[in-house]
Amino acid sequence: MFPQRRLRRLRRTPALRRMVAETVLTPDDLIAPLFVREGIDRPVPIESLPGVVQHTRASLVAEVAELIDLGIPGVILFGVPEHKDAEGSGASDPDGIVQVALKDLRDRFGDDVVLIADLCLDEYTDHGHCGLVTPTGAVDNDATLDRYAEVAVAQAEAGVDVVAPSGMMDGQVAAIRDALDEDEFGDVAILAYAAKYASGLYGPFREAVDVEIADGGDRRAYQQDPRNAREGLEEVRLDVAEGADILMVKPAVTYLDVIARVRAEHDLPLAAYHVSGEYSMIKAAAEKGWIDGDQVALEQLIAVKRAGADLILTYFAKDVAAGL
Ligand code: PBG
Repeated sequence: MFPQRRLRRLRRTPALRRMVAETVLTPDDLIAPLFVREGIDRPVPIESLPGVVQHTRASLVAEVAELIDLGIPGVILFGVPEHKDAEGSGASDPDGIVQVALKDLRDRFGDDVVLIADLCLDEYTDHGHCGLVTPTGAVDNDATLDRYAEVAVAQAEAGVDVVAPSGMMDGQVAAIRDALDEDEFGDVAILAYAAKYASGLYGPFREAVDVEIADGGDRRAYQQDPRNAREGLEEVRLDVAEGADILMVKPAVTYLDVIARVRAEHDLPLAAYHVSGEYSMIKAAAEKGWIDGDQVALEQLIAVKRAGADLILTYFAKDVAAGL
């Protein structure tokens, strides 16, 4: 008689399970998002992101040193400026907080770490939108592209390796590529937030960067509708055609189907952003004793990799790298 199939045989011991594991997570897969705030003299905790802080320039350098020691290859910087205005001028000011922080890190660490900068205006605008706003309150796509080009060049001059446009304007990757090439920054790569959804999971991030969207507004006129996966693939195709070097899907766990479909269709490196709300939900439930936070964090990051991501931007980067 045909023997009963026994799949449990290979699950019996930790060594057997390790031997047949299909998915492996290493520190090389992780990128740590870091916040640096202008005009503070000690790090400021972010209540809705337990364990994450707004860094001073000095504490940022110390944190990156620790991350490098843990084997994490890259960090992505977000700036929190002291002053905001309608154009988000701090985003492209050579003395703006992200530009000075990039210089600090490049001077200190050389090429030992990949320096990525989020490229957007929302942290710098007084209305909180990711682009320039017309008198009727709409976000002006093409005027915003000119600002993104200026931000890209300012970040490149400050020593960035990779710029990461997150504003979801049409044509942003092409506009940034043109501007970088024109100013002889052909080596600066673009990590495109290609399929970025209008998600409720960015809430804690907005506390981290002190952003409130004017008049109770939202980003649904530029970020994607969570109901659409095929549209996400079309966004990714556009960014590939415009010259993206690395693709990204964001958020991560809620969009594993999109990650898997992008992976199936494209061969460029694929990143996923495990966003602030994904982190905070785990932290909050763990704090209540309802889940094992470390186990769930690892389970989610593994799931993101299993779905097809090569790289994961995650607030768990340091903890996971330390425990791996
Ligand atoms: C825009 C940007 C956002 C995030 C990354 N880049 C906020 C937004 O789109 O509203 C969110 C990241 C997170 O929630 O961890 N600059």
